[in-house]
Amino acid sequence: MTEGVLLVENKQIEGTYPDGGLVSIWTLNRPDKLNSLNAESHKALKEACDMAESNDSIRVIVIRGAAPNPPIEGKRPKPASFAAGADISEFLGKNSDDVRGFFEDNAWERVWNLTKPTIAMVDGFALGGGAELALSCDLRVASERAKFGTPEINLGLIPGGGGTQRLCRLIGYGKALEMVLTGDMMDAETALSCGLVNSVTTAENLDNFTMSLAENIARKSPYTTKVAKRAVRASLDLPFSEGVLAERSEFVALFDTEDKEIGVQAFLERKDAKWVGR
Ligand code: COA
Repeated sequence: MTEGVLLVENKQIEGTYPDGGLVSIWTLNRPDKLNSLNAESHKALKEACDMAESNDSIRVIVIRGAAPNPPIEGKRPKPASFAAGADISEFLGKNSDDVRGFFEDNAWERVWNLTKPTIAMVDGFALGGGAELALSCDLRVASERAKFGTPEINLGLIPGGGGTQRLCRLIGYGKALEMVLTGDMMDAETALSCGLVNSVTTAENLDNFTMSLAENIARKSPYTTKVAKRAVRASLDLPFSEGVLAERSEFVALFDTEDKEIGVQAFLERKDAKWVGR
């Protein structure tokens, strides 16, 4: 585990093939600032993305926020947070030339472009850039006390990490624009009902729930999970008929893989598939 604004822990998962499959758990670690994302957080996230892509053993990535520190005597405890946005203190006095470069090569896009499945584990606030980081992940699991929002409008801004586009595709134009225009927070139950999150569970169970989802995916063929992600992702960029063709082409190509033969054989023999990842 590395110390700093992002803790990275690679957890070995039993029953993965090829052997030694890992779930990489990334913890945003600025709990006193509600894990808000500063320039250092972006740098660390981008480095973690490079590490995850280059390590074949990493099958799934989970992104989470550090739990609050114990409260200082006489002070109120800080709330649980995934990430309460970009670090607002870094915005003051900056003009477009100051921020353009940073936003052109940002962590949200790097996470979005990971070829491996990603899960945001959201306990508490996921606001602004924090909500956008959760949206940059493939799946979102939330605790009952999670709160999502895009409050940038209250700063005279709009989401800048792909939030308007990803939100719209996930929950539809009307709800997305309502969030962006009002800056109001959405509770976990509403987020579940409109498809912003995949599942909601208690705060106590969030860790276990998320890890079993991650482990489930980590036990599939690492080759096929990437193809599956690519095929579903294509639907966001391609017109429907082209998307269907793209899927067909991916599906047909899988018939040349060893893992397709291994999976089918294992099913017929009622055994667990021992994937080779190609
Ligand atoms: N950037 C920088 N610091 C932030 C932050 C952010 N996005 N969000 C919270 N913090 C800091 C606060 O300044 C405070 O620091 P301090 O204790 O040193 O004063 C600490 O985190 C705790 O936040 P606080 O506001 O005291 O907690 P709260 O429980 O009263 O309120 C929120 C929680 C999430 C409602 C509130 O912090 C908030 O509105 N944050 C900003 C959300 C936002 O606009 N994000 C979009 C940014 S683009």
